[in-house]
Amino acid sequence: MFLTFEGIEGTGKSTQIRMLVNYLEQRGKEHLVTLEPGGSRIGRELRRMLLHLESRDITPETELFLYLADRAQHVAQVIRPALARGKVVISDRFADSTVVYQGYGRGLEPRLLHQLNEVAVAGCWPHATILLDIEPESGLNRAMARNLREGKAVEEGRFEAESLEFHRRVREGYLTWASLHQQRIHVVDAAPGPDEVFESIRTIVDRLLARP
Ligand code: TYD
Repeated sequence: MFLTFEGIEGTGKSTQIRMLVNYLEQRGKEHLVTLEPGGSRIGRELRRMLLHLESRDITPETELFLYLADRAQHVAQVIRPALARGKVVISDRFADSTVVYQGYGRGLEPRLLHQLNEVAVAGCWPHATILLDIEPESGLNRAMARNLREGKAVEEGRFEAESLEFHRRVREGYLTWASLHQQRIHVVDAAPGPDEVFESIRTIVDRLLARP
């Protein structure tokens, strides 16, 4: 099973992924947790280029192709082999991030981005996607607090430095995109505490694991 997590900054994706990992371990399910950008060796180099504040002058098109390159390498080298070994694969961000950030956020055409994603994922689409949804104001506050705590503010702050307007477009974009893919994308309210949020995720995952 291939599961992806999506959402704006500060929705608590990492916390929920950790809780899901504990749960899968309890159930004896082999799993692999990975992320984008940066899930492969080449991807880690691309991640630095993409997220570093020095890359402020990157054009939307260049950014797009680097995310797609990261994804193609990630699918081929990490995700597909793990799925072939029967693991549950969980990716912190995947193809929907490109449609939403580069599309709804930066203004590239979402449908064209979806087609480019088809090339990058080469048939390896997630079985389900959890979209953690939160008001951009609360999400950004949480993300800033985390970055300060983890000392991440300086090197990887390019997206957190975007305007609130940008994050609003991204949030709305996610909801629009989810409404077009209701079979796959499950919208989960990320405003309540972590345990309550995880209950919703657990219900979705249990249903998926019970499928033949
Ligand atoms: P990251 O530090 O992983 O942030 P988060 O904790 O929010 O996941 O940064 C990834 C950033 O890259 C995030 O702001 C979204 C952006 N992004 C895109 O713009 N397009 C993409 O295709 C992907 C995968 C990420």
